[in-house]
Amino acid sequence: MASIKTGLMGTLLLASSLSGAQSQSYSTRGGMVVSDSKTASDVGAEILRKGGNAVDAAVATGLALAVTFPSAGNIGGGGFMVVRMADGETVAIDYREMAPGKAFREMYLDESEDVIPGKSTVGRWAAGVPGTVAGFWEAHQRYGSLPWKDVVEPAVRIAADGYVVSAGRASVLRSRADRFKPFADSYRVFCRDGDFYEAGERLKQPELAATLSRIRDQGRDGFYKGETARLFAEDAKKHGGPFTIADFDNYVAKVRTPLKGTYKGYYIVTMPPPSSGGAALIQMLNMLEVRPTGRYGPSSPLYVNRLVEVMKRAFADRAAHMGDPDYNDLPVDNIIDKGYAAELAAGISVFATPSSEIKAGVFPPKEGRNTTHYSVVDSAGNAVSNTYTLNTGYGALVIAEGTGVLLNNEMDDFTSKPGVANTYGLIQGEANSIAPGKRPLSSMTPTIVVKDGSLFMVTGSPGGPTIINTVLHSILNVVEHDMTIQEAVAFPRFHHQWMPDSVEWGPGALSKETRETMALLGQETYPTEYGLGSCHAILIGPNGRRWAGVDPRVSSSGASGSD
Ligand code: GLY
Repeated sequence: MASIKTGLMGTLLLASSLSGAQSQSYSTRGGMVVSDSKTASDVGAEILRKGGNAVDAAVATGLALAVTFPSAGNIGGGGFMVVRMADGETVAIDYREMAPGKAFREMYLDESEDVIPGKSTVGRWAAGVPGTVAGFWEAHQRYGSLPWKDVVEPAVRIAADGYVVSAGRASVLRSRADRFKPFADSYRVFCRDGDFYEAGERLKQPELAATLSRIRDQGRDGFYKGETARLFAEDAKKHGGPFTIADFDNYVAKVRTPLKGTYKGYYIVTMPPPSSGGAALIQMLNMLEVRPTGRYGPSSPLYVNRLVEVMKRAFADRAAHMGDPDYNDLPVDNIIDKGYAAELAAGISVFATPSSEIKAGVFPPKEGRNTTHYSVVDSAGNAVSNTYTLNTGYGALVIAEGTGVLLNNEMDDFTSKPGVANTYGLIQGEANSIAPGKRPLSSMTPTIVVKDGSLFMVTGSPGGPTIINTVLHSILNVVEHDMTIQEAVAFPRFHHQWMPDSVEWGPGALSKETRETMALLGQETYPTEYGLGSCHAILIGPNGRRWAGVDPRVSSSGASGSD
């Protein structure tokens, strides 16, 4: 072992270059929106130009993404929004989906208590009660400055008039035809019943436009009551599904206090449970404060190894302890405690600790892979970090009849059976078991970073459990490696989630030499099959200029400014 250690030191400390990362970034002095769809970013910027604030723009962008980025943008799913107003007020809006009233703990198990393949991921039974419209409504009621109708109208317009299908979207829709086919409305809307869309054609969604019009005219009631709720309940009755009118009537977005942490003088404002992401992010940053990485290059084996060990420990606690805070007494304070991080960090060496040897913390009882993220900052300095999702691409694949609304498959984020991995390979615990009205555990980590009392960075990512580590990378790349925000989001990434005990690496992240060195350190590595999540971020420069970090991994993505 010792000789391996000595022989390795030369390569371990080598920094890699930033090749492949674009260093030039779009910037503006006014407001800015960065999202997975340039068309949706343009909608947000249009709202800013009309005098809307960051929350108005975030709602308009999110509704536009539901039309132009249907694999993850949605009104049939849910998510989290972290808001920081220019006066320093912060809030976290939890609009995560909710298990319907007919849900029960063993709903995805067969008679032998084995998980029924696909039941929690495809079709109506995979869906939780959507939260997006309630979340956007709550945010707008609290902080919006333009009339609700004005922020919804652009999405209605794009759904009715159609948007131009890109070559990439045309090819994805065609490749999914067999999966959409069992669901008549989905196959008609996205595959035109087999007469597939070609690049350059307009894809119109009249039923979605009608649903959005009801939302525009009636606010949240346009979705959770009346015609839209009736259509969801009728669809479930006709085709077999759990939804009832009461499920929609009962849904509420919850306003929560953001989780807060610090890292070397930076102040982190992020999402509390039912996201696991905020707690894991702060926990990992706490460990890295004790075991700093700044002197290692961002692709050097020592840096990769250090982050991987930190990731394993945070994900072990995620698996054991995290779930819906309204159904469990979660040890979040213990998890984000700096003393606990120091204990964990003390166990990290240059060699891999096998995940089987990493156990979640035991805390005393207390007394008493698809999603989309966008970042918005307005000219006054209000900021929104929003991540929302249908879960996997195109969610449950079902458009509920007559609504134009694609349903999520978020029920798969619950523990179908303790010890059995979900679609992301995550092993989860009792705290995340299914119960009616409960919200599934999430990894979504919308985050705002503050420096010296001023807004510094807005960041977030899609990508299931990889989200948490992508957000970590984005912050470290700026803070530790002095990258521009564009370099930081474009830079290759890697991921470890405790189980499976291996490092998943994205294109360009681990060179052959680094992988060989990692193997000597005891870390198994494999190239990603599905890709790690993108990242869309905004950095505020010293003179107040807003700099866009647009992830080049998503060809449709883009930034728009209000100048
Ligand atoms: N659906 C992925 C997540 O919320 O983590």
